[in-house]
Parts: sequence; structure tokens; C-alpha cells
Amino acid sequence: MKGVILAGGSGTRLHPLTRITNKHLLPIYDRPMVTYAIEALVGAGVTELMLVTGGTHAGEFFRLLGNGHEWGIDRLFYAYQEKPGGIAEALGLTERYVERDQVVVMLADNVLESSLRGPVDNFRAQEHGARILLAREDDPEHLRHLGVPELDGDGRVTRIVEKPEQPPSAFAVTGIYFYDETVWDVLPTLQPSGRGELEITDVNNWYVERGEMEYDVLDGFWGDAGESIDAYYAVNDFVRGSRA
Ligand code: DAU
Repeated sequence: MKGVILAGGSGTRLHPLTRITNKHLLPIYDRPMVTYAIEALVGAGVTELMLVTGGTHAGEFFRLLGNGHEWGIDRLFYAYQEKPGGIAEALGLTERYVERDQVVVMLADNVLESSLRGPVDNFRAQEHGARILLAREDDPEHLRHLGVPELDGDGRVTRIVEKPEQPPSAFAVTGIYFYDETVWDVLPTLQPSGRGELEITDVNNWYVERGEMEYDVLDGFWGDAGESIDAYYAVNDFVRGSRA
């Protein structure tokens, strides 16, 4: 299984901090944000990674990560996203790296407490389709800034709504996604959303409609440090509390 870490985008919700650096290089407790995604993937045995970034601070990732060996990565590849065209557009840049392999994609602003080992093993055993990770979230105001699944009586995902006014469940779709090789057929069919981006939720709904979307529910803390300045500090507080 190949790993992809997405660290592009404009980070406008953390302006003015992100005028002078890339969001994923901001500190979370004692090290840059992106290193938590690397730790999560490497800890689950995914040691061949491609990092996608963009903007004016892309070179800083080389200074931080180099060839990746210090961070437990066997082989580290880089891709450059010319403009922030969305998560699904950034994923598209990795097609020739991933090829026909399974892929796990992680947004570089996500931080989680539990291991990814179980979900990685579950997806390895899954013959085809996609897999998402959900996190329990009881605060509807928080859910309005995220992707939220609608679940039927059997617990199957019936659709995912991006940033819903009325959240259809008490779960967030986290920024950790698993795809089989059909993802490369889906990406070229996407149309930009109202915010002008190719949305990962449209990719996920493509699998949902075919009955090929599975999920795991994460235990413990999960946070999207790029969601708002308060979310950024909530993630910092969690990490500091657990590691200090
Ligand atoms: O964190 C979980 C949430 O991430 C999900 O619940 C949502 O369904 C999903 O759409 C996404 O929502 P965000 O609004 O948080 O996405 P954002 O635009 O902040 O992008 C998240 C990361 O994706 C960002 O930290 C880096 C990467 N990215 C984003 C864009 C727009 C790129 O690499 N390139 C891009 O063009």
C-alpha cells in the first residue's frame, strides 16, 4: 500500500499565520504539524510516501523531511500543486506514483490518537472499493465545518454531506481515506464545487453510490488543526497533554 500526504491548499482559515509559512509547518506542541501524519502512516507500516504541497514555502518541506529516513520513511517522493484546486485535485497528482496499488491518503492537518494499524489491515483485506475513517463528534457546530456521513439503520453510509447546515449524523469524516485503483477513473469525472475545488467528498460519494464504501470508527482523540484557530489550539492542547 502506498501512502499520500496532502499538504497543499492556502490555509486561509489560519491567516495571517499562513501568509508567512505553509499551514502544515506550523508547530503542534514541539514539532511541525505534517510530522504527525507521517508518524501515523509510518507507525501503521506505510513507509513509501508521496507528499503533495504547493505555494511559496514548498522548499521548507525538503529542509524538514529530506529523504525521509530520519522520520522512518523508506522512500519519500514529492509533488507540487500549482494552485489550491482541492483535495481531489491534489490526489490526482499522485496517480503515476501510486499506479495500480492500494493507497491511503492523509490530510496533513489531521492529528489522531489511535493507531492506523487496524484500518490499514482492514483495507488490505478489502478486495475493492474505498474506506473512510469516522470520528464521533457530538457538537453540530463543529460538524458544520466538516464532511458528515448519513447512515442507514444497518449502519451503512448512504451519502456524505460536505459542511452540512443540518448534520445528518454525529460523526465527522476524517481526512484519512483509502482507495483502490478505480479512484483514477473517478477523478477526471469531477466538476469543481461552489468553492471552485475538486472535492474529496464527491470521490467518496461515487464509491458510496456503488455500495463500495466501508468505514472504521476511530477511538480516542481526532482533530483537524486547520479547521479554525480554536481547532488548532485544541489539537495543540491535546498533544501537549498527552506527550508533555
Ligand atoms: O479534516 C477533515 C475534513 O477535511 C473532512 O471532514 C472534509 O470532508 C474534507 O473536505 C476536508 O475539509 P477541509 O475544509 O478541512 O479541507 P481543506 O480545504 O482545509 O483541506 C484540508 C487539507 O487538504 C489541507 O490541510 C491540505 C490539503 N489540500 C487542500 C486543498 C484545498 C491540498 O493539498 N490541496 C488543496 O488544494
